[in-house]
Amino acid sequence: RSLPNPAPHPEPVVPARPTGTADRLADLAARHSEVVEVAEERAKGRQHAKGKLTARERMDLLFDPGSFVELDEFVRHRCTDFGMGDNRPYGDGVVTGYGTVDGRQVCAFSQDFTILGGSMGEAFGGKVLKVMDLAMKIGCPIVGMNDSGGARIQEGVVSLAYYAELGRRNALASGVIPQVSLIMGPCAGGAVYSPAMTDVTVMVEDISYMFVTGPEVVTAVTGERTSPQDLGGPAINSQISGNAHYVAADEQEALSWVRDLLGYLPSNNLDDVPVFGFEPTPGPTERDLQLDRIIPDSANQAYDMHEIISRLVDDGAFLTVQASFAPNIICVLAAIEGHSVGIVANQPMFQAGAVDIDASDKAARFVRFCDAFNIPILTLVDVPGYMPGIEQERRGIIRHGAKLLYAYAEATVPKVTVVVGKAFGGGYAVMGSKHLGADLNLAWPTAQIAVVGARAAVQVLHRKALGAVDGADRDQLQAKLTDEYEQKFSTPYVAAERGYLDLVIRPSQTRELVAGALRTLRQKRVERPNRKHGNIPL
Ligand code: HXC
Repeated sequence: RSLPNPAPHPEPVVPARPTGTADRLADLAARHSEVVEVAEERAKGRQHAKGKLTARERMDLLFDPGSFVELDEFVRHRCTDFGMGDNRPYGDGVVTGYGTVDGRQVCAFSQDFTILGGSMGEAFGGKVLKVMDLAMKIGCPIVGMNDSGGARIQEGVVSLAYYAELGRRNALASGVIPQVSLIMGPCAGGAVYSPAMTDVTVMVEDISYMFVTGPEVVTAVTGERTSPQDLGGPAINSQISGNAHYVAADEQEALSWVRDLLGYLPSNNLDDVPVFGFEPTPGPTERDLQLDRIIPDSANQAYDMHEIISRLVDDGAFLTVQASFAPNIICVLAAIEGHSVGIVANQPMFQAGAVDIDASDKAARFVRFCDAFNIPILTLVDVPGYMPGIEQERRGIIRHGAKLLYAYAEATVPKVTVVVGKAFGGGYAVMGSKHLGADLNLAWPTAQIAVVGARAAVQVLHRKALGAVDGADRDQLQAKLTDEYEQKFSTPYVAAERGYLDLVIRPSQTRELVAGALRTLRQKRVERPNRKHGNIPL
């Protein structure tokens, strides 16, 4: 569709011909006032009317008060096509700079939709790349706030080039510095791929959407009718596609969540994780003892894995990543004895905690994220296995399930695993088993480690014997064989006998043992043979 004529942005009002220092200072003040303060007032009018904050207000929410230093406020484009020569706004639609978050250095860019729709052109792209390069040089996280019409149509292929440059920076920074994206308005077309390459993407209710092709193109090409929210709103991206890791109710909450997230992360892959203050709490406490009663007697009764997690971490506090996507697996960041830890846990409340395609993808990426940033991994296991089904097989549970195996095997950070309930089949193997390189494997007496559940095992092992009888006799035989199988295999002791488990413990001992293990494992060093990179199944 044709773009409306851009509204010209006024030139700064500056004193005529500055001569001495005082004049030059006044000149600078006038320029700064026009470029930042007046532009900001104009931006507030436009953004607030849409229920959105301005690019600079967002920066102020991200950074510690007064710490933000804006770069490149005088940068503007040199495009003359389509009447652009008369419309050369300073800043060029993106605010960039650095500051501190809880006293630690962070770089950021924040797209300004009020200037040329926050679209990416040469000057805009140059600013973003420059601040990303700065983040890489100093080894600090980069936070990108997206609110943009995408590639600047007037600048043609130049804008596309900058998207590719941005993607290249994202790839090279991946696993070196934490990269966080916030979607705070439109994010469409190829613009979505930069956020997708970052570690974490946050969306905001009502104001944000992201899709590769918008509703109009979808209708034109496929005939389907849809809306921006239905196609790529926060609900779709957080629950179905898995592109978003967190959805905030508003922008304030989004930025506060990002500040919390950064608090768990080191500044870069060579740094240690930040250390929080903590109160040593000798156990068993009342909350520890509650763990002794948490696993229901009936295997068919579910419990909430969060109840276990909150009893193992400092202050019962944790930050959940991708809460609504694949809720059958839980990925959280938390602290144990003041040190960050990533927890991966099956959630028996959803699909009995079975690992399906989405759960594999989610947990594999989280394990790799933790490993890249030196965050130890605690795995809590209660898994009936990989998810069976025609749809899962056809969509590639083999390929996707392999990612999780790969991620655990590859990770060299301290890995501690606690089997609290079922650990059947591939689920046993993949969920941080000793065989994938876990450093300490614990189990509760409620653990059941076997190839399959007792009922299924008896069906396979004793098919002939069961087929030979029927009625009440069959039920009786089935019950007897199931009981025999359970006695032998539905316990942790066969695995413990082989040393696949290091300790079988009372649940109420878990917090102290896990904390002690992580303390001991801080010295862990693993060297791997040099290679270009592995070939993780994608
Ligand atoms: C130049 C743009 C622009 C763009 C918006 N504007 N998008 N200018 N290039 N891509 C300008 C508008 O002209 C307008 O200028 C101002 O920004 C606000 O836009 P509106 O349309 O009034 O806003 P709104 O109604 O909220 O609609 C938002 C929108 C729409 C849905 C994002 O602007 C839109 O459809 N824009 C084009 C999207 C697009 O096709 N982008 C290219 C995607 S391809 P004035 O002066 O009136 O304020 C891509 C490829 C990347 O990104 C490839 C990477 C590998």
